[in-house]
Parts: sequence; C-alpha cells; structure tokens
Amino acid sequence: MARVLVTGGAGYIGSHTCRALRAAGHEPVVLDDLSSGHAAAVRGLPLAEGDVADPEVLASTFDRSGPFDAVVHFAARISVPESVSDPLGYYRANTAAALTLVEAAVARGVGAFVLSSTAAVYGHPREQPIGEDAPLAPTSPYGASKAMVERILADASRAHGLRYAALRYFNAAGADPAGDLGEEHDPETHLIPLALAAAAGRRPPLELFGTDYPTPDGTCVRDYVHVCDLARAHCLAVEALVAGEPGGVFNLGTGRGHSNREVLGVVEEIVGRPVPAVEAPRRPGDPPELVADPRRFRERFGWEPGLSELRTIVETAWRFARSRWADGGAAPGAPTGA
Ligand code: UFG
Repeated sequence: MARVLVTGGAGYIGSHTCRALRAAGHEPVVLDDLSSGHAAAVRGLPLAEGDVADPEVLASTFDRSGPFDAVVHFAARISVPESVSDPLGYYRANTAAALTLVEAAVARGVGAFVLSSTAAVYGHPREQPIGEDAPLAPTSPYGASKAMVERILADASRAHGLRYAALRYFNAAGADPAGDLGEEHDPETHLIPLALAAAAGRRPPLELFGTDYPTPDGTCVRDYVHVCDLARAHCLAVEALVAGEPGGVFNLGTGRGHSNREVLGVVEEIVGRPVPAVEAPRRPGDPPELVADPRRFRERFGWEPGLSELRTIVETAWRFARSRWADGGAAPGAPTGA
C-alpha cells in the first residue's frame, strides 16, 4: 500500500486516478485549489485545498498528511490556445509550480514521482506512430511547459535519485463506466463532450475544424485513450516506482487513430441522433495526425487499454453527460451558472 499525494486530484484524469489508486488499495491524498477541478469529484478522500505552487501550502500538506511514498502531479493548465495567448501564465502554472513540487518531494525524501505529460511535447511529428524517442519539438507554450518539467525530472533523477515516470497522454477521453465521474472542463474545448452536447441539442452545432488535412477523410486523426485506462497506468507506474524500479518517459495511447469525422459517426450511433456540425477553418496549432506507438509502456508494465475502443469511450462519456444533465448540470461550454 502506498500513500500518494495527488495534485489536481479533483480534475478529470486526477479524479479517475484517485479512484483507481483506492481500488488498488493505496491511500491518495488530494492537493487541489479547485480552480478548475470539482470538490465533488474528490468523493470523501482527504483534500488539502491550496495552490501547488505555494511552498507553504506544500509544507503544510507534507507535514499534516505525509509522509508520502509517491507524488502524482496533475495540477496544471491544459489549453493549447490559451497557452499561446498567456505563455508566462503557463510557464508559471505548469513549469514553475512543478519545480517547487519536485524540490519539496526531493527535500522530503519522496522517492517516486509520476508526471502528467502530453503528446504536445512532440509538436507536429512527420512520422506516425510516434515513439518516445521522437524529437521533442513542442509548438505551443503548453507543450514546452511540460517538456521543461520532464527535463527537470530527468536532472533531479540523476542528481538526487528521484525515480520518475513522465506519462505522455494522447487524447484522454471517456468517463468512469459508473457514470458518476467524467470530463467537465469549463470552457470545454474537446471534441467528444462537445459533439455529445451538440447531438443532444444542448449546444449550437459543432464547428468541425479543418476538412482539408492530408488525412484519409480530410479531418484530423487522433489516438483516443480511455481515462480509466490512463488511471490504471498511473497506478502501475506508482507501484513500480515505489517498489524501487526505474521509471522513464512513456506514451499512453492505443496506437490506433480515428478521424474527427469517424468520431462524429460513433457519437451519432451512440446518441441515436445526428451531430449538427458546420465545417470551419483549421484550428491554429492542430497537427494533422497524432498516434502513439504505445509499446514501451505496454511491454514494461503489461498494460492493456481495455476500455479504449472508440465506442466504449463515447458510450461512457454519453452516460456521464446524461447523468450530469439529469442532475441539473450545464452543458459543456455553457457560461458558468447557466
Ligand atoms: N475539434 C473540432 N471541433 C471542436 C473541438 C475539436 O473539430 O469543437 C477537433 C480539433 O480541431 C482536433 C480534434 O477535434 O482536430 C481533437 O481536438 P481536441 O480539442 O478534443 O483534442 P486535441 O487533440 O486538440 O488535444 C489533445 C489534448 C491536449 C494536447 C493536444 C496535443 O487534449 O492536452 O492533444 O496536440 F495538448
């Protein structure tokens, strides 16, 4: 059993990971400022409310709730376009905050650190699928802010023996099959929740960004991985690092790509209604195709992304969306309080 500090544990991937850690017999403690996460998603776990970038918050969390065997770091800002307009905010929230956390972890003798990283560290690679040894060439401050944290961890690992795993997610999607935990960003920018809300008539027609990409149907291709498969991957990484095994950088994806039109087709099947959509210009910064070579993590940890069929992803996301709307939740992207 490991005692694990989970920063951003009230967020989308963080809350699913806390649930997976609990199910595996571990003890997650959440540190979250609730600026974008949801207190309800913490569901009875210990919650320290505060900013991970604040050394005093970290000191009191370690004093009150530690010692920790591992840190899993999700707390971050995640919007690529927002990072372009507010790069310094992103370097502060993502890079500087992580540096403060890594320093605290090293000072407190925590031996294991799992970083929520991203395929955005690769930029627009020409070769698909993308292996971990592809050059890091982020095209946004968001991707750069995460690549810098990976570098900090690599250096801290060499100098201080901190074992770390940087998990580069491709497109996280789906929701816990129980229907009570899922994706709730505000504003929502991700394709699947927006398409579901449009099909349900709870949003205006979806804008389909770019139909002239050099892909089979002209729309972007992405590698969707179920959030519960990601959560399980974090558990496996924590367990290995806590057991003293070496870490590294790992892609988390399925190795299969789906075009945006294909995603809309599956949404229509599951919802049983068309997705109202209008063709729109390309969204700046979108690479045509991002598909993982996921073999390194699979071979090392025996991880099988068993829920990551696109249908299962969309079904679980749909179940969650309906349960939120039944509870009176706003459709994604609606102004807060609407
Ligand atoms: N899309 C639309 N209309 C929308 C929303 C999205 O056509 O209203 C398209 C996008 O243009 C893209 C695809 O759907 O082609 C997927 O877009 P998402 O926003 O769902 O996901 P991204 O691939 O842009 O983002 C993911 C992660 C980011 C990460 C990025 C790396 O969510 O954290 O990949 O490029 F940074």
